[in-house]
Amino acid sequence: MPATIISGIETAKAIREEIGIEVRRLKQEYNIIPGLVTILVGDDPASQSYVAAKNRTAEALGIFSEQVTLPAITAEVDVLRIIDEANRNPAIHGILVQLPLPRHINETKVLFTIDPDKDVDGFHPVNVGKMLLGEQCFLPCTPNGILELLRRSGVETSGAEVVVIGRSNIVGKPVASLMLQKREGGNATVTVCHTRTRDMGFHTRRADILIVAAGVARMIKADQIKEGAVIIDVGINRVGQAANGKAILAGDVDFNDVVGKAGAITPVPGGVGPMTITMLMQNTLQAAKRAARIDG
Ligand SMILES: NC(=O)c1ccc[n+]([C@@H]2O[C@H](COP(=O)([O-])OP(=O)(O)OC[C@H]3O[C@@H](n4cnc5c(N)ncnc54)[C@H](OP(=O)(O)O)[C@@H]3O)[C@@H](O)[C@H]2O)c1
Repeated sequence: MPATIISGIETAKAIREEIGIEVRRLKQEYNIIPGLVTILVGDDPASQSYVAAKNRTAEALGIFSEQVTLPAITAEVDVLRIIDEANRNPAIHGILVQLPLPRHINETKVLFTIDPDKDVDGFHPVNVGKMLLGEQCFLPCTPNGILELLRRSGVETSGAEVVVIGRSNIVGKPVASLMLQKREGGNATVTVCHTRTRDMGFHTRRADILIVAAGVARMIKADQIKEGAVIIDVGINRVGQAANGKAILAGDVDFNDVVGKAGAITPVPGGVGPMTITMLMQNTLQAAKRAARIDG
């Protein structure tokens, strides 16, 4: 039997409706409009399309969004100054700096400059530390989106063997840490694989839930997974260009090879991607509520 398709589009739509209702309530009851600023340095086409999608989604939900686009040659000090202004602007509740940044700009310094209370990407060390401790904080959007997708799809994580491929700071490490937390949506037994892993297939074939975030197109084949496993494909790889100029995308999982053996699988596109943007909107809403000391 082919795998159940876990649709990030459908799940994200349901969550966005909930966010939209809450945004309208904030406006009506408190006259507050959540505000997000996105900062893009350079002209990387993938980054441009991610930022545009984030701003479009924000506007559709009634969130105020401002896009700051800077040339690739922008000095680090100017990026820091713009972040500082947004830190002090009461109409801005969330600040997102699109990564990667040009080489001459120190990414760590930039991320550390964002006020942790406005760090809707969840990359500031204060939020990373709180996440590890299981404290309330802004969770990074892609890992949180994966957990939400699993939860809303009814996938049990407690006691499950979860294997994560990739150990980046934005996906692999945080998703592994969240799956490990002693609470609902966590409680998994987690293994993390990377380029120095000796026998990756040994681990992936044991996985009840396999989360792949390596950035290598179609690297996971049917013989590397367990029958009935839940496959979360985080990868977004540009593998070509369609006649209309649009990029052709592929995940890190060979969907056609795996779909007959997996129990459930996220497609690319339409899987984790829409969840990432949705979690950003949720964090921005939360940031606005926290700034105004509104519970819930
Ligand atoms: N859907 C979304 O919203 C979303 C969000 C973020 C990222 N992504 C996509 O997810 C993918 C990963 O992103 P990232 O930022 O985490 O990437 P990254 O920073 O490049 O990290 C990739 C990780 O995968 C590991 N890896 C690479 N090739 C491998 C292999 N052949 N076998 C085992 N491990 C391997 C690397 O190991 P080492 O540490 O040993 O080098 C590294 O830890 C990319 O395709 C990215 O576009 C999607």
